[in-house]
Amino acid sequence: MIPTWVQLAYLVAAIFFIVALKGLSSPRTARRGNLIGAAGAVIATAVVFAERDLDHVLPILVAVAVGSLVGVVGAQRVQMTQMPQLVALFNGVGGGAAALVALLELVELSERGSVADVAGFDLVATAFTIFIGSLSFSGSLVTFAKLQELMTTRPVLFPGLPVAFGGSLLAAIAVSVLLVINPALWPGVVVAVLGLILGVLLVLPVGGADVPIVISLLNAFTGLSVAAGGYVLGNTLLLVAGTLVGAAGTFLTRMMASAMGRSLANTLFGALKGGSTLGAGEASDRPVRSTGPEDVAILLGYAQRVIIVPGYGLAVAQAQHTLRELVDVLIERGVQVDYAIHPVAGRMPGHMNVLLAEAQVPYEQLKEMDEINGDFKQADVALVVGANDVVNPAARTTPGAPIYGMPILNADEAQQVVFMKRSMRPGFAGIENELLFNPQTNLLFGDAKQTMSKLLNAVKSL
Ligand code: TAP
Repeated sequence: MIPTWVQLAYLVAAIFFIVALKGLSSPRTARRGNLIGAAGAVIATAVVFAERDLDHVLPILVAVAVGSLVGVVGAQRVQMTQMPQLVALFNGVGGGAAALVALLELVELSERGSVADVAGFDLVATAFTIFIGSLSFSGSLVTFAKLQELMTTRPVLFPGLPVAFGGSLLAAIAVSVLLVINPALWPGVVVAVLGLILGVLLVLPVGGADVPIVISLLNAFTGLSVAAGGYVLGNTLLLVAGTLVGAAGTFLTRMMASAMGRSLANTLFGALKGGSTLGAGEASDRPVRSTGPEDVAILLGYAQRVIIVPGYGLAVAQAQHTLRELVDVLIERGVQVDYAIHPVAGRMPGHMNVLLAEAQVPYEQLKEMDEINGDFKQADVALVVGANDVVNPAARTTPGAPIYGMPILNADEAQQVVFMKRSMRPGFAGIENELLFNPQTNLLFGDAKQTMSKLLNAVKSL
């Protein structure tokens, strides 16, 4: 029987998790939401120490200390652009932990000789936790390797991959059924190994541009395995927390897939059908109009309406602070300026919101794609800073392009378009952007931070 005070503490922690999720839904409250979630996790952990008469307390505390140290140092050192990798690692560790806990339950039960007494549904939940948890672990490690460019970011295909995938999946289901009918440790271990193999086979064929969607999917998987683990252990809080992660991950996966104009099936299995999810990546040598900071300063300084389109290159160059200064100066001159935020600009959900919030850009100036897309027609200048795919008209016009069907920002409808980038190299999808060659487009070449400083000085001296 679980004491009432423990149940109450778990209830408080569960409420903290829900409030945390609510907080995370807006950049304004995200920091506080994160802290509330962390407080919930601390309560949940502390309760276990207070309630149970734990064995091996010292090694547990050492493990907690090592885990905390690695987590804090890792999170502090990571660059904003490497955040998806960090999320993949943390997520994988969560899935692996859930699988290990379920396996250890099996070990304990078989040592006590009571596996056969466990209720059928508990065994279904155990098999599920082991399978999905280990799949999430290995899948997340492969996504990490892809994003960190420890391996190729292109889809990895080999003959027989679909057969290997289907065969392993069927085998995992069959051995799970065996585990439920005839409970023992060995089928649990086999399910874990098959889960590890399937995690790798699931992620290998996914192209680099789609990997963040897969991270989110694996995140949902980890949530579900933790929830099932909560059921196995009879721990309500794990059940609640896992379900929250599972539901949030599922929503995020769907939202990211639709923002990129792709179905989940296409993301996961598109490459198996022969269509690459990453383009060629060649730079073009067709003529373009390049310009200098002084000319762009005149264009911006005497405009009535300017829309900024920030992208991945802004984050790489760390030019967000200088950009905000430029916008401040333009607003002082009476120019109406907004930032157009594409849902998948950058390399992770909310990347641009976080980046610009860091530079103290007022939230009112950040306009979501649907809100601002009709305004480009009235804009004198669309200033595209380190973005490419999110304004590439090929998404509308070129069936077969990796981004075809992805909703884009209508920067091409502005009177003038200025691109700030270093070269003619394409964006993440690896395809040429026709907008770079349009007569109303000017290219301001150079690292966004350096050219932005020059542009700022030029506008100031108008
Ligand atoms: P991209 O299309 O990747 O374009 C970024 C541009 O920034 C490149 O053309 C690059 O050109 C330029 N750049 C890089 N470093 C720079 C620097 N230091 N200074 C100036 N420019 C620099 O970015 P995007 O428009 O933000 O699109 C995002 C892409 O990522 C989409 O394809 C999207 O599907 C994908 N993606 C996003 C997400 C999420 S959730 N955000 C998830 C997965 C995939 P140069 O090399 O010529 O400088």
